[in-house]
Amino acid sequence: MTTAVTLSGSIRTGSYNVILQRYVSKKLREAGVEVNEISLADFPMPVFNEDLEPDNVPEAAGRMAQLFVAADIVFIASPENNAGATALIVNTISWLSRQKHGQFRHAVFGIGAVSSGKYGGINGIGHLRDSLSKLGALLVPTLLGIGPSATAFDETGTPTEEGVIRKVDQMVRELTHFSRGGI
Ligand SMILES: Cc1cc2nc3c(=O)[nH]c(=O)nc-3n(C[C@H](O)[C@H](O)[C@H](O)COP(=O)(O)O)c2cc1C
Repeated sequence: MTTAVTLSGSIRTGSYNVILQRYVSKKLREAGVEVNEISLADFPMPVFNEDLEPDNVPEAAGRMAQLFVAADIVFIASPENNAGATALIVNTISWLSRQKHGQFRHAVFGIGAVSSGKYGGINGIGHLRDSLSKLGALLVPTLLGIGPSATAFDETGTPTEEGVIRKVDQMVRELTHFSRGGI
């Protein structure tokens, strides 16, 4: 069975990106994918500093790398901060990049963003795509930028715009099509 890991680059209470993570997870399950929805709150990692290597590398980095290696699909929802990716997701990727499991070379990756700006976090998406592709990740082409966040979802966590629903469906099709497991 095709498997996926989904996560959010914001762990804020009420995070819109966690809502997007949940919605995409639901859509992946409807497409027959086994989904593991994780929270970065359960993977604590200090601010990256090479002085912490090799003796004080957080165990969470190895744990997450193993999850990425075992998954066919990784979906990351992450807001834009100061026209880039969030400190939390950049820190996570920094620690992951130091692992030696080929953690970016197994799954196919999808990136989404919900941000308060009307451009829907497209700069943050670009930042993440650039970084992950240079680490060897294969990214699906759909740019899932959603904004403004305050009106992006209804009370059931469903996108309010038809165009966003279509884009999520397109991303799910791409993720399942390109994943190693196949459906
Ligand atoms: C430090 C900081 C910088 C931000 N920079 C941007 C930005 O460049 N573009 C944007 O659209 N929103 C920006 N925002 C707003 C976030 O996109 C918005 O708060 C979003 O809802 C956060 O995601 P979350 O709801 O998943 O926590 C910024 C917020 C913070 C706290």
